[in-house]
Amino acid sequence: MKNNLLKGKRGIIFGALDDKSIAWKVAKQAHDEGAKFVLTNAPIALRMGSIDQLAKETNSKVIAADATNMDDLDNLFKESIKELGGKIDFVLHSIGMSVNVRKGRSYYDQNYDFTIKGMDVSAISFHKVMQAAWNLDAMNEWGSIVGLSYIAAQRVFHTYNDMADNKAVLESIARSFGYHYGVRRNVRVNTISQSPTLTTAGSGVKGFDVFYRFSDDLAPLGNASADECASYTITLFSDYTKKVTMQNLFHDGGFSFMGMSEESMSNYLNSSKK
Ligand code: NAI
Repeated sequence: MKNNLLKGKRGIIFGALDDKSIAWKVAKQAHDEGAKFVLTNAPIALRMGSIDQLAKETNSKVIAADATNMDDLDNLFKESIKELGGKIDFVLHSIGMSVNVRKGRSYYDQNYDFTIKGMDVSAISFHKVMQAAWNLDAMNEWGSIVGLSYIAAQRVFHTYNDMADNKAVLESIARSFGYHYGVRRNVRVNTISQSPTLTTAGSGVKGFDVFYRFSDDLAPLGNASADECASYTITLFSDYTKKVTMQNLFHDGGFSFMGMSEESMSNYLNSSKK
């Protein structure tokens, strides 16, 4: 699909680790839609992942930045403006990590150093990215900033652990910074609340395959794929959504508004005790 939706736009895409990453799919589609952008990830992810392949395919430069480090972010925005030849029109924050989840600590047995690190990487980094851009006045008017979230910000999902709190903070930052960025700079800020998606971060959650099947059964349109998430993200970067801001937008096949589906009901009928 090529509609030149992002023709002439300049962006920064955080979080493409490998070809399963949601950010990877966004980069591919943004390229197809005519955008120029810089790819970025934490230095360690650049060594482990396959971002160079994506850079080649999309004719883009890779600039390392730990999204929790203000000096890295300052350098990233300055260098991106130089590389792309002007201010930035869109930013994708596609970053998440919980140390408690990685180390197998349950929600009622947190190591708070892990909790704070995970919060910094998964949520506060969204604020840091925006503050770095704000300080440099790096965003063009009518620019668009998007972060990726999950419905565990509103509802409890067994084993999603402290990532639920991180996502709630992420969505709150989108609203709060969205206000300031909107009223002073005409820049919009939103989060997309995406279906469970088979990626490295997704598969790190214990019982992820059950999460995946449960929401796929319940959602009338089924789970949204990473590619579909990328298409939705492109619309938010395009000029067709200029007045959408401070929103958490569910992109989940209808899962968020379901109670009981025919499929789930029949699963229970078949398994109910007589
Ligand atoms: P992924 O593992 O491909 O992407 C996560 C990215 O975060 C990686 O590229 C990783 O290197 C990056 N990252 C971690 N620490 C960083 C740091 N300090 N600085 C810069 N980058 C850092 O997984 P996925 O699924 O594409 O995740 C992208 C976003 O989508 C995350 O916010 C995730 O929580 C969210 N999401 C994912 C869902 C899923 O089921 N996979 C569902 C809903 C939201």
